[in-house]
Amino acid sequence: MRRRGFLSNLALAMPMVHAADGFAASISELSELIKSAENDKHLWQRIRQEFLFHTGLVHFNTGSLGATPRRVLEAMSGWMYQLEGDPVSNVFGPLGYRMEQVRAKAATLLGASLDEILIVENTTSAMNHVALSLAKHLKPGDEILTTNHEHPGGAVCWEYLVKNLGVKLVQIPMPAPVKDQAQIIQLVSDHLTPRTRICSFSHVDTITGLQMPLKEISLLTRPREIFFVCDGAQAPGMLQVDVKKLGVDTYASSSHKWLLAPKGSGLLFIRKEMQEKIQPLPFTSGYQAYTGATGTRNVVNVLGHGMAIDFHHCIGSERVESRCRSLSNQLRNRLSENPHMTLLTPTQPELATGLVSFTLKKSTAGEVYTRLQKEHNILVKVVAKPEYNALRFSTHLYNNEEEVERTAKAIELILKS
Ligand SMILES: Cc1ncc(COP(=O)(O)O)c(C=O)c1O
Repeated sequence: MRRRGFLSNLALAMPMVHAADGFAASISELSELIKSAENDKHLWQRIRQEFLFHTGLVHFNTGSLGATPRRVLEAMSGWMYQLEGDPVSNVFGPLGYRMEQVRAKAATLLGASLDEILIVENTTSAMNHVALSLAKHLKPGDEILTTNHEHPGGAVCWEYLVKNLGVKLVQIPMPAPVKDQAQIIQLVSDHLTPRTRICSFSHVDTITGLQMPLKEISLLTRPREIFFVCDGAQAPGMLQVDVKKLGVDTYASSSHKWLLAPKGSGLLFIRKEMQEKIQPLPFTSGYQAYTGATGTRNVVNVLGHGMAIDFHHCIGSERVESRCRSLSNQLRNRLSENPHMTLLTPTQPELATGLVSFTLKKSTAGEVYTRLQKEHNILVKVVAKPEYNALRFSTHLYNNEEEVERTAKAIELILKS
């Protein structure tokens, strides 16, 4: 009897040992695999094997959702089993402690201090938190400056304030493609008025993939004491982000896109000096992942979020960005050869990113999207503004040159017919 009790206790303890040790071993194994790659081609082939994509699928839509690496999923499943063996002791014990360490990883990733970073579910919820906490600073007639290219996740919160507070939304009509940085700065400057209280821009434009010159814009907003809010859904995990250098007051992001974290993983940065003014209710008891104001969190998801950041660092932010950009350049050049397509994305490195969009002069974006998916197993995105009749392509570290070529040929074939 006593022996059976001992064995069942051991069985309960086993997954705990496995999950804790397996996590570190898995990351150091990845690190060894990366070091042992003979050349870049071999490295990216090896990285591709970390993902669970169906055979033959070309996933050119990380801008909507990235794919989480197998080793992160395996670690999460270990943590889930560990947790369910003794939920309370684990959530308020080892897994809870480990969850609190994730903010430090996120802070390093974004160039922030630990006491400026919050774990949230996604960009949309982070933007909602920011907007609601800014409401008390607004009077009817005050203006919120944004663009006509914002995603609903970064726009609905302002529409809510317009409806409920009588403030005014001013949208800059974005050119596509933008000519240069100076054109954007001029447009922002032209739309600022003495009533502008908030500027809210995406770091990477979800429609065209344009990278906004945030730092330069902050030189306009900060001296005027305008709140500078950024929707960074499309940047971390693709571009190297340093929120301090960008000069923003808040930065919201979705780690389940380019950072390849489990779905429902996001981050919110609030600049230290603004924390008196911007105080979202769920974080009034502190910035830790679990507090009296947050309530119970999805611990396993947060741990997977942290491991996705480790995965990213293991490869290196600079190397990931350069891979996304190089595939994106190749795709842009290749598709630009097609006489039925017009580029919406700027080409200058300081404005371009791993997202590229093209207007289709022939056929509708919806038709081409469907045929790419059904006939060629290629997943892209129809640009959310129908007036562009455009497709958007996201290139990430799991994509490759052959996929770019296959996609260019498939589009040629579809547009010829
Ligand atoms: C610029 C931008 N903001 C916000 C979102 C919404 O992201 P989430 O659903 O993760 O909140 C997206 C999603 O595509 C986006 O591109």
